[in-house]
Amino acid sequence: PPLSRLLSLADMEAVARRVLSHKALSYYSSASDDQITYFENARAFSRFFFHPRIMRPVSKCDPSTTILGYKSSIPVFISGAALAKLGHPDGEVNLTKGAGTTGIIQMVSSNASLSYEEIMAATNPQQPLFFQLYKHSDDAIAEQRVREVERLGYKSIWLTVDAIVPGNREKDIKSPWILEDIERGTTVYEGSLEAVGGDGNVFGTAGALIANDDRDMTWEKTIPWLRSVTKLPIVIKGIQCIEDAVLAAEAGVDGILISNHGGRQLDFSLPPMEVLYKIRQQRPDLFDSLEVYIDGGVGRGTDVIKALCLGARAVGIGRPFLYAQSAYGAPGVVRIVEILQREIVTAMRLLGVKSVKDLGPEMVERVDWLPR
Ligand code: FNR
Repeated sequence: PPLSRLLSLADMEAVARRVLSHKALSYYSSASDDQITYFENARAFSRFFFHPRIMRPVSKCDPSTTILGYKSSIPVFISGAALAKLGHPDGEVNLTKGAGTTGIIQMVSSNASLSYEEIMAATNPQQPLFFQLYKHSDDAIAEQRVREVERLGYKSIWLTVDAIVPGNREKDIKSPWILEDIERGTTVYEGSLEAVGGDGNVFGTAGALIANDDRDMTWEKTIPWLRSVTKLPIVIKGIQCIEDAVLAAEAGVDGILISNHGGRQLDFSLPPMEVLYKIRQQRPDLFDSLEVYIDGGVGRGTDVIKALCLGARAVGIGRPFLYAQSAYGAPGVVRIVEILQREIVTAMRLLGVKSVKDLGPEMVERVDWLPR
């Protein structure tokens, strides 16, 4: 269908499901074990209801914000996801162009299917890129990667900490595929990945991609190491409970992304929206010491606004952008941002706010039931 007929992120997913190859859909859509966290990530937003205020002027309504000081047209960024080429020959560059056109920020995955340089080359002059870091177990190799992206002009490092081993993603493991010409031009593995993975285990695509990553990261060792090799702002991606949010603040990082990897790692990790709610209730001071973001299951503008009410600076979105670039290339990415922008502005106006700064915890309420 023409892009103008797509009205929601769910519409985009429905189209992508019809056009993606079996292996791409298996990799993109998979989540761990019984996928409880995957589904609850999205459903958790349904427990939060608004307190809309009326009789407030909203004809001028501005949904823009800044993320680590960089302007973003809406409080949404593209969460780093591997292997965009599985879904579309232009791969990550579709996301770069779509983000550049609409003024949002792309976080580029360590496991992007194009080189970090090729992706940077697709930006427009004002367009910042963030970098998602999978830390290699060898500090020297990891340092090289960080220095490379800093030299290329990436603006921040998002250290992923929730994927020291891959989650059990059965849909992905079952899908035979050829990882050829995908990992930056080199053939990494051919055939069914069922056999890949150490210790006699079966890890699927993710297992092949993160096989050499550091499983022994600590606050004491890893954060000072990263600070010593880069001046860029550091965000910890994959905080899943309040205790680790506190430790991140104590470690002095610039931000945390509350995330369970879109339900692809530990099944029964709490939905990020619930973790955010707990932090808001128990440690509201944390929002003053670092920027807080969430990702996982965001599908509507109202989801974005709910997270912002509780103190999130912005929210990340993974799969919907992958689906959009797969089905329509860069224009699909632009369409996703247009849909979100319209939904966000509508929600803000109906809530009675004209700037994201005016959103606050008094505007949402958590109920203990789920709507049908
Ligand atoms: C991911 N994610 C991810 N995270 C990361 O830090 N490095 C990576 O390389 C990847 N790769 C990846 C591939 C695919 C196919 C998916 C779906 C996800 C996780 C991603 O950054 C983000 O946390 C989730 O996608 C957010 O959940 P939603 O928006 O997909 O529900």
